[in-house]
Amino acid sequence: MRSLLFIPADSPKKLQKGLSSAADALILDLEDSVATDRKADARAIALAFLKEASASSLRPRLIVRVNSLDTGLTDDDLDGVVAGAPDAIMLPKAEGGPAVIHLDAKLTAREAVHGIAHGHTEIIALATETAASLFAAGSYRGASARLTGLTWGAEDLSADLGAEANRDQDGRFTSPYVMARNLCLFAAASAGAQAIDTVHIDFRNEAGLREEAEAARRDGFTAKMAIHPAQVPIINEVFTPTADAIARAKTIIAAFAADRDTGVVGIGGVMYDRAHVARAERLLARAKAAGLG
Ligand code: COA
Ligand code: MG
Repeated sequence: MRSLLFIPADSPKKLQKGLSSAADALILDLEDSVATDRKADARAIALAFLKEASASSLRPRLIVRVNSLDTGLTDDDLDGVVAGAPDAIMLPKAEGGPAVIHLDAKLTAREAVHGIAHGHTEIIALATETAASLFAAGSYRGASARLTGLTWGAEDLSADLGAEANRDQDGRFTSPYVMARNLCLFAAASAGAQAIDTVHIDFRNEAGLREEAEAARRDGFTAKMAIHPAQVPIINEVFTPTADAIARAKTIIAAFAADRDTGVVGIGGVMYDRAHVARAERLLARAKAAGLG
């Protein structure tokens, strides 16, 4: 998964448009982009869409973002959509492993009720939306086999902090949000989950999106969320390994395969050791997932 497109779940028109967007995943949002009075409608529209879209073999992954555990709406959200067998539930304002364990239990009960295989529904946690959540970043490891992705958010965190802004004049995140981003990256790696970069809300700024996505890929994120279909091709391009990167990775792996007793090689005046082999293998796995390689 390289690109995950958010769609307000109360908009059938945008949901249909999402299907032709080339996004690897659609996030049907029941949370912040849906007004309180529209939540019930959004659940019904999301369920109908899940049933219709999941019948097609060539489809994006279908994820539903529910309302956070402290809202009292999560159970109604899950009762509304789990019957449509979404591939994953995104949990906003997650505060560490205990929140994931809580959601895991709720999913286990609903999967049984709807005759869906136990463990089918994965969990993606939004790990940095409250100040308290940052102190729990280390607790995702081992919380649940369902936890396959971690992502982060700067909008709700800035609200929780009472900040005036979360980006500087150049559009770059200020230091509290860079820290949240980095904690998400560490939390994901330690939990064996995919690290997914946050949204770029300035959706007409393609250069800014590209710069942010490239920096995320450099640091170990392997996907980014989008809020507008126009962002999807840029994100897909940035997170698809280039032919050059694939060739470099293959050269490193071949150099070590040629001499099984060596722990280190020099290629083109640069030193490579076992860590670089692991890095090269991860890149090739991503290339394969994108249908290359
Ligand atoms: N998913 C699917 N389709 C979308 C879309 C999205 N996230 N965002 C826009 N579109 C559609 C529009 O409906 C429009 O369709 P049309 O040409 O058939 O009328 C087309 O893409 C172009 O949209 P545009 O006019 O450029 O933007 P807009 O002003 O209609 O919408 C937003 C701007 C921000 C309201 C919209 O992009 C959106 O709803 N984004 C998702 C918000 C969200 O889910 N937030 C929660 C997570 S942070
Ligand atoms: Mg939010």
